[in-house]
Amino acid sequence: MPRIAYVNGRYLPHAQAGVHIEDRGYQFADGVYEVCEVARSFIVDSVGHLNRLDRSLSELRIAWPVNRAALVHIMREVIARNRVHNGMVYLQVTRGVAPRDHVFPAGTTLSSLVVTAKRTDPVASAKRAAAGIKVITVPENRWERVDIKSVGLLPNVLARQQAKEAGAQEAWFVDPDGTVKEGAATNAWIVTKDGHLVTRPADSGILRGITRTTLMDVAKKLGLKVEERGFTVEEAKSAREAFMTAATTVIMPIVAIDGQPVANGHPGSVALSLREAFFDVAEKIQA
Ligand code: PDD
Repeated sequence: MPRIAYVNGRYLPHAQAGVHIEDRGYQFADGVYEVCEVARSFIVDSVGHLNRLDRSLSELRIAWPVNRAALVHIMREVIARNRVHNGMVYLQVTRGVAPRDHVFPAGTTLSSLVVTAKRTDPVASAKRAAAGIKVITVPENRWERVDIKSVGLLPNVLARQQAKEAGAQEAWFVDPDGTVKEGAATNAWIVTKDGHLVTRPADSGILRGITRTTLMDVAKKLGLKVEERGFTVEEAKSAREAFMTAATTVIMPIVAIDGQPVANGHPGSVALSLREAFFDVAEKIQA
C-alpha cells in the first residue's frame, strides 16, 4: 500500500509529495510543526498539540492554513489512508511560498500545510523501553525561543547526530552552570532518592512538552510528587532514575548519561509504571 501525504489541499503519493522551492519553510525554516502519537487507533493529546500549534503560529504571526476542525479531519484522513493504528501523525505549517525576501510576504500569501503519518511498531518500542536508552550531554547552543515548536532544528539535528556517533540515542542540552535543559527532541526528567519526579519549569529555555504536561496528571494519579525545578547533570547521574518524554517515545527510561550508568544501569520502576499508566490518563480522540 503506497504512503499518502497531504500537501496544500491534495492527498498525494508520498514519493511525489512536495512543496515549492520558494516555500519559506524550505528557505528560512519559517514554520512550525507538531507530532502526535497514534496509539491503538486513537490520536493522543490532540487538544494539547493543537493548542500549542496555535501558540507557535501566533508567536510567529503565521495564519492557520485551515481551521482547526478541518485540520483534525485532514489528520484523520492521512492516518486512515496510511492505515496507521500505531505510529505518528506529523503536521507542518509554514509562512507559505513567496519570492525569497527575509521580511514577511504580502498578507495574501497562504500558509503551507503538510500532514504525513507513519506506522511504528509498539513491540519494538516496548523493547526499547525495557532496555532503556543512553544520553550524552552537549552545551546549549539554541536560540532563546525554544518554546516555539519551530522547524529550525539545526542544533537539535547536530546534537542527535553527536549522540548517535557516541553510541547514545539522545543528547541533553546543558547550560554553562551544569543545569539540564531538555533533549534534542524530548523533555528531561529524573526521580530523586525519595521518589519525587523532577523536571525543569517550562516557563523558559525548553519546549512545554505535551507528554510532559500529561505526565503531571499521570504522576498525580499514581500519587507521585512532581518538583518543577532545575537539576544538574551531576544530580541526574546520581539520581534513582532518569527518563525522557515526547510524543514519539512517550516515557523512555534513561540508563546512562555520558557513559555513566544511572543507578544500577537498568530502567527504573517509576518510569516504567508511568509508561504503563500513560495511555489511560491521556486525552484521546478516535483516529
Ligand atoms: N519533539 N523538547 C523538544 C526540543 C522537542 O522537540 C520535543 C518533541 C519535546 C517533547 O514534546 P512533546 O511531548 O509535546 O512531544 C521536548 C518531537 C516529537 C519531534 O521533534 O519529533
